[in-house]
Amino acid sequence: MTVRINPSILSADFANIAQELSRIDNADFVHVDVMDNHFVPNLTFGPQMVERIKATSPIPLDVHLMIADQDTWAPGYAEQGAESVTLHVEATTDPVATAQRIRDIGARVGIALKPGTPFADIVDIAHHFDQILVMTVEPGFGGQAFMESQLNKVREVAAFRASTGTEFWIQVDGGVTEQTIELAAEAGADTFVAGSAVYGTDNASLAVENLRKIARDHSHR
Ligand code: DX5
Ligand code: ZN
Repeated sequence: MTVRINPSILSADFANIAQELSRIDNADFVHVDVMDNHFVPNLTFGPQMVERIKATSPIPLDVHLMIADQDTWAPGYAEQGAESVTLHVEATTDPVATAQRIRDIGARVGIALKPGTPFADIVDIAHHFDQILVMTVEPGFGGQAFMESQLNKVREVAAFRASTGTEFWIQVDGGVTEQTIELAAEAGADTFVAGSAVYGTDNASLAVENLRKIARDHSHR
């Protein structure tokens, strides 16, 4: 069973980022939430920060872009060394062309859906992406409650993947805990972002390991 646990450093101590990264050395990817106070009402990291995180940690970077005008800005994150860059379909005008530019740089590319955005909006372009991110909170902040209403979307994406033989990963982000990861894995997700459930504990790597075990036990993959 291949599942991935990607801790979100949105819940880490930004003043001690190198030390915070060393707490999750068993993570599959570091999830980096890039926010611009425009697409979402919060402000976090930019490209220079991503470049420093890349230089500080050997763990691959999973950049989640929550910014306006992603067609302009997204490829720069791949150039800074991110192994994966996820776009929000709501903030792109040409997601397929932008995806191709990211792939040409050598990174994986994902497409994200806010809770109110149906999978139908991207079904025709889904095969251009390496990862579909189903948001299980409204993007912007860590520590929110998992929206079980999104599980049907996860099932729909998983059914599409099975029936078309496509190979993208299905990621969920927001409110993932030892309880909710079970539901998401059963619905068909294989890649899990967890912020407060990892960084809110004393032993972050143990939290990663526990989440991974529960996800494996409930995954269909
Ligand atoms: C929310 C971010 C998430 C956030 C998750 O907009 O995309 O990645 O860090 O935090 P938790 O796991 O605490 O919900
Ligand atoms: Zn995120």
